[in-house]
Amino acid sequence: MKNAISRRKFFYKTVGISAGALVLPTIAGFKFQEKSGGIKPMIITSHANDLGQKAMETGWEILRNGGSAVDAIEKAANVIELDPEDTSVGYGGLPNERGVVQLDASYMDGKTYSAGAVACLENIKTPASVAKLVMQHTDHVLLVGAGALEFAKAWGFQEENILTEKARKIWLRWKEEMSPTDDWGAPEHIQNLQKKESYWRDFPDIEHHYGTTNVLAIDMNGDIAGCTTTSGLSFKLNGRVGDSPIIGAGLYVDNEVGAAGATGRGEDVIKSCASYYMVLKMKEGRAPQQACEDALKMIIEHYKIVNPDYYPSEKFVAINKYGETGCATMKGNRNPQMSVMTSKGYSRYEGIIAFQGK
Ligand code: GLY
Repeated sequence: MKNAISRRKFFYKTVGISAGALVLPTIAGFKFQEKSGGIKPMIITSHANDLGQKAMETGWEILRNGGSAVDAIEKAANVIELDPEDTSVGYGGLPNERGVVQLDASYMDGKTYSAGAVACLENIKTPASVAKLVMQHTDHVLLVGAGALEFAKAWGFQEENILTEKARKIWLRWKEEMSPTDDWGAPEHIQNLQKKESYWRDFPDIEHHYGTTNVLAIDMNGDIAGCTTTSGLSFKLNGRVGDSPIIGAGLYVDNEVGAAGATGRGEDVIKSCASYYMVLKMKEGRAPQQACEDALKMIIEHYKIVNPDYYPSEKFVAINKYGETGCATMKGNRNPQMSVMTSKGYSRYEGIIAFQGK
């Protein structure tokens, strides 16, 4: 996404604001630990909409019944992946430039220091589940393309058409408007007579470009796990892999520290190893909120050398082993949010915009 804002100021606030919108009651008759060991169980996702809440409720059911963080995040991520209306993750995700949906996902288990991931996976609705199987049933970390599909099919996943009509129409509109010099779009003699409309204006509610989701959880035993899943950059080059399936970039988990995940321009997140950096910062004593902001600042510092006006679009989320949360975005008009579910119910945590337009 091009950055039109020429000068921005870094707002280095240290504390995010919890919106604290509790919408679910505390579950009766269940003992939760919230003192020296911190808040557990808990689960968060970077999806702060109704779908994110539904995902949290699904993951929470597993955690509150004593299930593992590893299992809870899968079921939560699947809710988002399987929703055909969400154009940034799984089924319904926007395709690449050829009109093919290629999905990326990663998984990490803090307890066993295990990780698994898939990239450019086609025809499977739930890449997070495949990434989990790579983690649990192979000695590898990352499978790509045809190999990832073969692995998924061996585990019984069904190949399906995951390009929804909605996503296909958006892709076609994009093709028509991408270039004034190709032959897509209305016939030349009519083109100038037609009102030129942006394809984004036709689909104002879709999350485009880099939409992704992170799901991070701590279970009753204090074990931490995370996953990141996405359809990646919309209309990307065939075969492009973003940060989401790269351990240390789109996701990192350390049972002794916490977990972090990234959404946004994957190319920056890969170069900066941003999720690993956030966990490292928390290990050094930074709060999750500070760690998110530290990672954004680190990216900007690198770009200052070549282009001081460049601010890519990233959103980071983090939790530490005490159940503290953080969320920050590089830029935007609204403070970033994430969904949080604990024994106190569902809430939306509001983070900060690290760089404000001047
Ligand atoms: N962060 C998602 C992507 O760049 O693919």
